[in-house]
Amino acid sequence: MSAASSPTSELVSGAPRHVAIIMDGNGRWATQRGRPRLFGHHAGAKRVREIVEACPDFGVEYLTIFAFSTENWKRTQVEVAGLMSLFRRYIAKETRALKAEGVRVRFIGDRVRLDAKLIRLMTELEQETETNSRVNLTIALNYGGRDEVARATQRLAQDVASGLLDPDEIDEETLPRYLDTRVLPDPDLVIRTSGEARISNFLLWQSAYAEYEFIDTLWPDFSKAEFGALCASFGGRDRRFGGVKK
Ligand code: IPE
Ligand code: IPE
Ligand code: MG
Repeated sequence: MSAASSPTSELVSGAPRHVAIIMDGNGRWATQRGRPRLFGHHAGAKRVREIVEACPDFGVEYLTIFAFSTENWKRTQVEVAGLMSLFRRYIAKETRALKAEGVRVRFIGDRVRLDAKLIRLMTELEQETETNSRVNLTIALNYGGRDEVARATQRLAQDVASGLLDPDEIDEETLPRYLDTRVLPDPDLVIRTSGEARISNFLLWQSAYAEYEFIDTLWPDFSKAEFGALCASFGGRDRRFGGVKK
């Protein structure tokens, strides 16, 4: 994906157009302070605004953040309920600022398992920000890369069964049109905080050629300065996409 065509990225040469972040380490951050895990999730949620607002400064047009995975339901009922309540409160509280900052919000993931009130808040936030274009924030909530591909395949198969799609037409261009991320460019840079070097089912198809940064900082300590440094170091990477450098 070329960054040169966008007006924002022209300001920062070699900027990652789309950054995706696995916001990890909230639990350990809280434990280090002798506090319950939810205390860490609240601290983590507070970091999001600064990072979203920093995007235009670093030439980032798309920011995608992993908030809750399809595997996170395995956690205790207390933690899951606390997270769901945090998501509801976060959306209600941040809507005004996101709108004012020109942020367009989208959600990816399967909404079916989420409660009705949260789904309503998510839909409203998407609708209220749909004319914004300064930053494209995508929140992955009940998202799993494998689940996304399975749901996409189901819809694709339905289109084949109903005669809308010829199986011979299925290729690398067609399939991603069925993914939750269909309107987003592929991520250029994937950052994971907290020292874990794994992708935990995040953007499996989309990250095929992303650059990765695994950093030790726990998510509640992640700062605009560190984000800027990672975006700057992305500019020095040699992305070959399987080819040979001229
Ligand atoms: C990331 O922090 C947030 C979610 C997965 C919801 P964790 O809760 O995974 O924090 P650690 O990894 O236990 O420190
Ligand atoms: C990935 O973190 C999911 C989110 C950040 C929302 P996890 O903490 O759930 O991942 P694992 O269990 O360490 O792989
Ligand atoms: Mg974790």
